[in-house]
Amino acid sequence: MSAVAILVAAGRGERMGADRPKAFLDLGGQPLLLRSALAFEVAPSVQHIVAVVPEDETDVARGLLDSVTKLAAVVAGGARRQDSVLEGLKRVPDGFDGVVLVHDAARPLVDAELIENVVAAAAAVGAALPVLAVVDTVKRVRDGRVLETLDRCELAAAQTPQGFRFDLLVSAYEAAFRDRVTVTDEAMAVERLGSPVQAVPGSPRNRKITTAEDLAWAEGLVQAGAPA
Ligand code: C5P
Repeated sequence: MSAVAILVAAGRGERMGADRPKAFLDLGGQPLLLRSALAFEVAPSVQHIVAVVPEDETDVARGLLDSVTKLAAVVAGGARRQDSVLEGLKRVPDGFDGVVLVHDAARPLVDAELIENVVAAAAAVGAALPVLAVVDTVKRVRDGRVLETLDRCELAAAQTPQGFRFDLLVSAYEAAFRDRVTVTDEAMAVERLGSPVQAVPGSPRNRKITTAEDLAWAEGLVQAGAPA
């Protein structure tokens, strides 16, 4: 099964408090975006990589992804994550009958094994994503008051890459945009259609880099020899 990977890196990363979009920040000598791209570069199923970046960073991104041989396009993203994904989807050729992977460039420690697991599950079921069990007890809170405690056994934290048969993701996105729904990940758009989404084991290393503390944590792993 062949796959196209869309790397979304068009967020401003305001929670990081840095002066650059977070995908361009350095982790052990490589920007997060390049590290993420290199994981897909070595994943056997992945044929093409599309990077979605802030409009004013397209030239910078092309330069830093120069060594990525599978790079097919660098495009400008949109206001919301789903707008950025849509721009990436436009670069997948009509009639492509493989799996489309959508990955947060802010998860630079993803590895090829996880990518291949997602591709296989998405090819079999239609949609798949990596998840981690939730270790904390989770409450629903409104205005500082606890409304209820959720059943932890049924909760999982969603990671990326999320994988989909191309036609399924296109239908799910068309429906979400038609219904004016904001989705926080691609699987949510597919769930709305009632289509099955397979959960596969995620990885603690595949954490999303959101804050300066997350970046320091990842730096520690890279220094300790974590796979790039
Ligand atoms: O904001 P959040 O951390 O959820 O973003 C997850 C990923 O989506 C990041 O890699 C970010 O760059 C990307 N994103 C995007 N376009 C947006 C918002 C987020 O590509 N408008």
